Amino acid sequence: MADDSFGAYDDFWLFGYGSLIWKPPPHYDQRVPGYIEGYVRRFWQASEDHRGTPEAPGRVVTLIDRAHWETLVDEHPSPHLTWGAAYHIPQQHVAEVRNYLDIREINGYSIQYTPFHPSHSAADPSPPKPIKCLVYIGLPSNPQFLGPQDPQELAAHILKSRGPSGENREYLFMLEEALLGLSPESGDGHVSDLVARSREIEAEEKVKKGVHGENGDAKDADGRRADIGGAELHKVGSTEEQEEVEK
Ligand code: BEZ
Repeated sequence: MADDSFGAYDDFWLFGYGSLIWKPPPHYDQRVPGYIEGYVRRFWQASEDHRGTPEAPGRVVTLIDRAHWETLVDEHPSPHLTWGAAYHIPQQHVAEVRNYLDIREINGYSIQYTPFHPSHSAADPSPPKPIKCLVYIGLPSNPQFLGPQDPQELAAHILKSRGPSGENREYLFMLEEALLGLSPESGDGHVSDLVARSREIEAEEKVKKGVHGENGDAKDADGRRADIGGAELHKVGSTEEQEEVEK
């Protein structure tokens, strides 16, 4: 079935707003930067399986329905658009990819569908048609949903957390870098504020420990300036190359 106002229904598109932005699903044949509306991205989901453990859960992003978010007290304002990347999965791989992605639901995510708006290309400034996309949402009713978090405590928590997929700080830093790479408007104030707070905390800790560069800048263990961060964007394109997916 096709619906001109909302893309083709038998086509499978998936919207990534977290790690999917830099760790694509297997078998995708198109990746399109763009945004969805009506949601707010927040580091308010506990992660027991990827960036934390059941004993010490880390923090990953979820999307909150904007109408619900407006009833909450949040120090961070929110832009009206949530930027991310949409992936098209060819028909013959849909069942495999759906199965692979459904693993993600285990840690509290549910499926919703929403219109995705591809970003305008410079060559064609007319607004592209919205695409119907599947998106994973950590509903407020799920046990991993934490609700509003104090940003300073949240940054400190992210810095001390790690899980089977690696350090929680790496997830935060890579998310910011991946978002900034999507478009000139795709930065997210909530994410960038947490990155800034994390770098400040790390720099203070280095000063306390007495780790300094020649010009007095605090440096990390590899000798990089602590305010630069070491995250690198990498692309993983097949199930074989990729360990179990994370949020
Ligand atoms: C993502 O966009 O990366 C994502 C978020 C929640 C669950 C699965 C994937």
